[in-house]
Amino acid sequence: MVLKVCLAGATGWAGSELARAIAKTSDLDLVAAVARRHAGRVLGEVLDEPRLTAPIYALAADALAHPCDVLVEYTKPDNAKTNILAALGQGAHVVVGTSGLTDGDFAEIDGLARRQNRGVLACGNFALTVVLLQKFAEAAARLIPQWEIIDYAHDDKVDAPSGTARELAYRLSKVRKPQPTVPLEKTVGPREARGATVSGSQVHSMRLPGFVISAEIIFGMPDQKLTIRHDSGNSARPYVDGALLAIRKVSTLVGVHRGLDSVLDL
Ligand SMILES: NC(=O)c1ccc[n+]([C@@H]2O[C@H](COP(=O)([O-])OP(=O)(O)OC[C@H]3O[C@@H](n4cnc5c(N)ncnc54)[C@H](OP(=O)(O)O)[C@@H]3O)[C@@H](O)[C@H]2O)c1
Repeated sequence: MVLKVCLAGATGWAGSELARAIAKTSDLDLVAAVARRHAGRVLGEVLDEPRLTAPIYALAADALAHPCDVLVEYTKPDNAKTNILAALGQGAHVVVGTSGLTDGDFAEIDGLARRQNRGVLACGNFALTVVLLQKFAEAAARLIPQWEIIDYAHDDKVDAPSGTARELAYRLSKVRKPQPTVPLEKTVGPREARGATVSGSQVHSMRLPGFVISAEIIFGMPDQKLTIRHDSGNSARPYVDGALLAIRKVSTLVGVHRGLDSVLDL
């Protein structure tokens, strides 16, 4: 069976790499694409990949006029929720790669997905080493009650914390609430120095030239520390295999699921 895919953000850094990978598959058919600057053109001309015959639209609502099984959302945080809700409204399943959606956004999306009996698989990071970081951190949090998260990214990343850090904090909130020795409200000095509280975890976001994307979690106990860290390189390659797996598996889910391990046997 061939799955019809609509890809929002198909001309971007992450989306274009995914589009080229979809072109090489025999079980996925990219039927429509979303991006503003190249709207009206054919994706294959823009990406120099003749196998990609999908037309590009500025609005997801127009692209979704092409019936599809799965919408992949890979645009920007300010636009993502609208696209996801539109796709669910049309009866498509959704894979979310875009970062910046809040727990509140996901709760709203979950409500519509369940009413529509459709799956939404949101992965703050599709890279296998991030999936492993999440699993190892969950195991550590069962035994160690204090941790903080550091999120490193390139200077022009607009959203903070990263989707990777948000997702990690969300998952750890399902394990337990961290117990800082000094409660945050008793901080002497600017409260911001302790970072943002995201799903109960303290998260510190660095935005500097020279970084790509890294995520680090430090667990502390008296006289011992555990650091788990993921670093990605410059290409979008690490995200492709995970995104393809998510597209193929999302129809097995109902409602919002966060993290690629929702469809992996780990
Ligand atoms: N989950 C993961 O593993 C993973 C990996 C990499 C990146 N990301 C996240 O994915 C998102 C995209 O990252 P990127 O680096 O690929 O960004 P990018 O290179 O700027 O690409 C964004 C894409 O979305 C389109 N777009 C942006 N705003 C739009 C709008 N309002 N309407 C329609 N199209 C729009 C852009 O085309 P136009 O500008 O022409 O509209 C472009 O095709 C970010 O949130 C990033 O953090 C996630």
